[in-house]
Amino acid sequence: MPNALEVRNLSVSYRGGIEALWSVDLDIEQGTMVALLGANGAGKTTILRAVSGMLGLEQGRIMAGTVRVFGESLQHLPPHKVVRHGLFHVREGRHVFGEMSVEDNLIAATYARASKAPTSAFDEIYEYFPRLGERRKQLAGYLSGGEQQMLALGRAIIADPRLVLLDEPSLGLAPKIIREIFEIIARIQAEKRLSILVVEQNASIALKYASQAYVIQNGRVVMQGSAREIQSSETMSALYLGGGVSHGAPARTEQVLEAH
Ligand SMILES: Nc1ncnc2c1ncn2[C@@H]1O[C@H](COP(=O)(O)OP(=O)(O)OP(=O)(O)O)[C@@H](O)[C@H]1O
Ligand SMILES: [Mg+2]
Repeated sequence: MPNALEVRNLSVSYRGGIEALWSVDLDIEQGTMVALLGANGAGKTTILRAVSGMLGLEQGRIMAGTVRVFGESLQHLPPHKVVRHGLFHVREGRHVFGEMSVEDNLIAATYARASKAPTSAFDEIYEYFPRLGERRKQLAGYLSGGEQQMLALGRAIIADPRLVLLDEPSLGLAPKIIREIFEIIARIQAEKRLSILVVEQNASIALKYASQAYVIQNGRVVMQGSAREIQSSETMSALYLGGGVSHGAPARTEQVLEAH
C-alpha cells in the first residue's frame, strides 16, 4: 500500500531566488494524521503548496525532488485536477465565499468532486458541524471565525478527498473552539479513514491528535518522530509547549534546534 504522501528531497525556490525548502523528506501513512510544526517563515505553507500544485500561483518552483500522492506524481497537473485525485488543500485564512450562504459555499465545493455529490453529503456535513446546519441560509461572511473555519473544513470534506492538507486551522481562534474543531477533525478522520497533514503553530493541540510530527526550521526538517516522542523531547517542551510558539522568528529556536 503506497503512502498517502511521500515527499523526497524536495527543494523549492520563489521568484527572486528566495530558497524556501531544502531537501525535505516527509511521509504520511494512509489513514494517519501528521503534524507539521515550526516558527513563522519556516516553510510549512510552502510544503503544502508544493504538494497541492499551488506553487505556480505564488511564483514558486520545485527545484529538485519528488512528491507522490498515493503513489502517483501529480506534479504536471493544475490545482483543480489535483483535487480530483483525492487531495484537498485548506489554505491558511479560511477562504470561504463571504457573499454566499453557508449552503452555497458547500454546493460550490461539490464541483471539485470526481463524481456528483449525493444529497446526503450535505446532511453529513451538518451532522459533523451542527453550527453550520443552524446557519445554512446565512451569509458566510457573517459567521464567526470558528464557524468560518468549520465551513472551510466542510468544503474540504464535501469534495470527498482522501488526503487533506490543513494550514493552521486554529489560527486566531479561542482555545475552546480549537478543541471543538480538532475533535471534529479527529472524528471525520477516523470515520472516513482520511490522511491528514496539519500545519500548526499550536503544537500542543496538533501533537495531541497527530500520530507523527515533523518540525521545520529555515526550510529544513530538523526533527521528526512520533507525536509522543516530539512532545516529550526537551527541545520541544522548551520551545513550544510552554504556551505555543511566539509569533515572529524566535532567535532561541535556532540555537536550541541546532544544538539538538
Ligand atoms: N509567494 C512568495 N514569494 C516569495 N517568497 C515567499 C512566498 N511565500 C513564502 N515565501 C518565503 O518562503 C519562506 C517560507 O514561507 P512559508 O509561508 O512557507 O512559511 P510558514 O512556515 O508557512 O510561515 P507562517 O507560520 O508565517 O505561515 C519565507 O521566507 C517566506 O518569506
Ligand atoms: Mg504558513
